[in-house]
Amino acid sequence: MNLLEARDLEKRYGGVHAVVGVSFSVAAGERVALIGPNGAGKSTCFNLIGGQVRPDAGSVVLDGKAVTGMKPRALFRRGVARTFQITATFASMSVVENVQAAIASHLGESFRPAGSATLAHRDAAMALLARVGLDAQSDRHCAQLAYGDSKRLELAMALANAPRLLLMDEPTAGMAPGERHALMDLVTRLTASDGVSVLFTEHDMDIVFAHADRLLVLDRGRLIAQGAPSSVRADPEVQRIYLGGHA
Ligand SMILES: Nc1ncnc2c1ncn2[C@@H]1O[C@H](COP(=O)(O)OP(=O)(O)OP(=O)(O)O)[C@@H](O)[C@H]1O
Ligand SMILES: [Mg+2]
Repeated sequence: MNLLEARDLEKRYGGVHAVVGVSFSVAAGERVALIGPNGAGKSTCFNLIGGQVRPDAGSVVLDGKAVTGMKPRALFRRGVARTFQITATFASMSVVENVQAAIASHLGESFRPAGSATLAHRDAAMALLARVGLDAQSDRHCAQLAYGDSKRLELAMALANAPRLLLMDEPTAGMAPGERHALMDLVTRLTASDGVSVLFTEHDMDIVFAHADRLLVLDRGRLIAQGAPSSVRADPEVQRIYLGGHA
């Protein structure tokens, strides 16, 4: 059975039809890349699936159950985690406190870094930081992290929930090419071992082809192609609209 099914999703912003009748599925353990030009509707699709935005029509089905319109927190409890195109961490807290807060949030607890909760979940948070290679930086403030390290922290926070589906909107945006491959290698390693499904957006086609089992191509809100990387790469319409000189 598919872990995720998006069915006939629709979203309009005023006169902009951002997502037009989009349907696709993601199987358990599958890594799927959602690609397309700027403004194609990729982030909007992530927001519809992650609960940040409610679709005007259509449904989101997780594990056979409709979760359409559920809030991000409710989806998080059902195993949907995400990272954002713009990194979302608490700059005023330390690295380890951010992960502790993510764990507390998963458990429905509140977390106040200055309060008695400071020690709560610290071991679990340190173990997650070790998995993403950030344990040596656990006491630094997030604002002091190098950009690539803040992306790894966001990944650790997403994994705090032991997710079944990880949504990553441009996880490597703004990174140097070498760093991009390192981050996606890490994502693949950490998710493949637990059979976590990954839906990600990425503009770097080398990374897409190296890390996706399957591609979905959006253009002006519509899904214009999907399938194995090799067949999507050879699709004339995809070539014309998006890939240009990449294939
Ligand atoms: N909150 C919003 N209010 C108004 N218009 C929006 C909003 N969010 C997205 N849009 C519009 O919807 C369309 C799709 O935007 P979206 O951010 O989903 O594209 P994208 O594929 O993620 O693009 P990019 O590659 O630049 O990140 C665009 O025309 C955008 O301007
Ligand atoms: Mg986007």
